[in-house]
Amino acid sequence: MSISNTSLEEIKSRLDIEEVVSDFLPLKRKGQNLWACCPFHDEKTPSFSVSPAKGIYKCFGCGAAGDAIEFVKEIEGLDYLGAMRYLGKKYGVQLEETEITPEVMAQQGRRESLFIALGFAKDYFHQQLLHHHEGKSIGLSYFKERGYNEQVVKQFELGYSLDKWDGLLKQAKVKGHQEDTLVEAGLVIKKDEKVYDRFRGRVIFPIHNITGKVVGFGARTLKADKGAKYINSPETEVYQKSKVLYGLHQARHAIRQQDNCYLVEGYTDVISLHLSGVPNVVSSSGTSLTEDQIKLIKRFTNNITVLFDGDQAGIKASLRGIDMILAGGANVRVVEFPQGEDPDSYSRKLGTDQFKAFLNGKQKDFISYKTQLFLDQAGDDPINRVATIKEVVSSIAKIQDPLQRAVYIKQCSGQLEVDESLLIRELNKKQLQDSGGGRQVITVPEVVPESPPSPKNLPDTIAVQERESIRLLLNYGDHQIEEGVNLRQYFFNELEEVEFKTATYRQILGIIKTDLQKHGAVDTRRLMDQASSEVKKAMIDLLSERYEVSSLWMDRFSIYVPTEKEILSNVVFSNLLRLKYRIVKKLIAENREELRMAEPNEQQKLLQVDVALKKSRNELAKQLGIIVSD
Ligand code: CTP
Ligand code: MN
Repeated sequence: MSISNTSLEEIKSRLDIEEVVSDFLPLKRKGQNLWACCPFHDEKTPSFSVSPAKGIYKCFGCGAAGDAIEFVKEIEGLDYLGAMRYLGKKYGVQLEETEITPEVMAQQGRRESLFIALGFAKDYFHQQLLHHHEGKSIGLSYFKERGYNEQVVKQFELGYSLDKWDGLLKQAKVKGHQEDTLVEAGLVIKKDEKVYDRFRGRVIFPIHNITGKVVGFGARTLKADKGAKYINSPETEVYQKSKVLYGLHQARHAIRQQDNCYLVEGYTDVISLHLSGVPNVVSSSGTSLTEDQIKLIKRFTNNITVLFDGDQAGIKASLRGIDMILAGGANVRVVEFPQGEDPDSYSRKLGTDQFKAFLNGKQKDFISYKTQLFLDQAGDDPINRVATIKEVVSSIAKIQDPLQRAVYIKQCSGQLEVDESLLIRELNKKQLQDSGGGRQVITVPEVVPESPPSPKNLPDTIAVQERESIRLLLNYGDHQIEEGVNLRQYFFNELEEVEFKTATYRQILGIIKTDLQKHGAVDTRRLMDQASSEVKKAMIDLLSERYEVSSLWMDRFSIYVPTEKEILSNVVFSNLLRLKYRIVKKLIAENREELRMAEPNEQQKLLQVDVALKKSRNELAKQLGIIVSD
């Protein structure tokens, strides 16, 4: 069921970021902002800031940023509507249900009845496990044998399905569940007009989505000779396997706290790790990891540790999946288990303390692990060694952060005993291949090129100034620049004929203009509300950027540096000059390109344009104190 727009507006109008965040963190005031240690990564000194005036938070350590709604989503692991429900409760706003079309209602109704049926089945299986004589003697005693205690049985809502054809079906019908719904939920199977339970005589692992609703089941047989070891729910309207991780609901707080997520193979590994005091663990349930699953984990941490069984055959197959995690921008470590052991067996063998020590002691960063693995197998064979280099470089190419790539190149050059420069060349080649030729292939932090002007590299420098314009507009729009003129008016006047090249900044400018027309004033929160999530993120970045030079210089040289506000008119003036200067330079470059291609009869006109453009460029340059030579 969704919430009406009026209720959503009502909640938004009451939002106070300071109030919302203080429910989770102790905030300390320092200057205009409030500070705390960031809840989204591990740190000892506070770099998480809340700006009540702007209604946003930003962590300067890990980059997490957003408004009050985003904060609740992140910290509680909720989706948008879930966060709004939470906030509605907090602010005592009665949530109205929307008037929805019959189709929407039918669809929502169907999803809802699937959830209800699945919830019923989960309770039913759990009751059978705890109270039915068959459940107790077969299911519960099996779990006990595996060392499961009452707490994990409850926490994971484990269950048992009786060894008959209609145990669940019968009970569900008594409770009024439609047969169609049970089929759609994957709980019963309909075949040739016969209807029967999908799960029979098995222990049951309910699979929860992130908010804790059951979306499906994994059912393990207890008999060595009876069909598949696991029977799993099929994909349904509420269960898309690629978007669910087993154990995430139970692990999410621990993952955030530890700022690390262990990745294992199956249901029993997840539960065994919990029993060994390692609750920050999830599993992709026997299938290979998907991009959506990585995104799910990345909502809680950027550090993923993959636990490998100790059999070599499985490992190489899993490496591809790990490249994907690297490409997702996470840091990946691996722990390899001894031959014949998996996380489940080995954690039970070692016991809590030793097992934790093992995990911490044995973890390696993925790149050096992979390098070693291939090196060991390559031996002295030169062909194999070349293949090893290519393999390792192909993983490094997936890493997004150029600095991190550079570090790995250095490390691997030692490990592989080859020159760094050779690896860099190989890396650049690989990245060109991966991107179809389009991507930047620099391994050092990039510097914005100032000259020479060519149409190709100029847009970047324009974007820098466009960004600066928008940053000033968002932060200081209401500030007086001259007598009776505020910054926003000044900008709009000056930029009347300029169309921004960067889509994001153009959109923000558009939103600001509309807001001004509609309300006669501009309100950042209202702006963010109208923006797409991507644009909103850009806004938050711009709103929370620190005036870096000032604080840096003050600290380093203990001298007084004026704050940006104090010299705002200078800042604005030079930003506009630079923007115009760069636009003109780009026009010149484009015009010359055209001139080069032009027919003789067109050249005269283009030359005149060149002269005119150069004149305005020189004027702008003079004001900026730049000397130009042609
Ligand atoms: N799996 C599956 N279907 C199978 C076999 C395995 O879905 N027929 C998935 C399950 O999610 C399982 C995981 O793959 O948890 C790992 O498989 P396996 O190690 O065989 O099962 P465990 O759950 O570890 O069971 P046990 O420890 O009892 O052998
Ligand atoms: Mn196992």
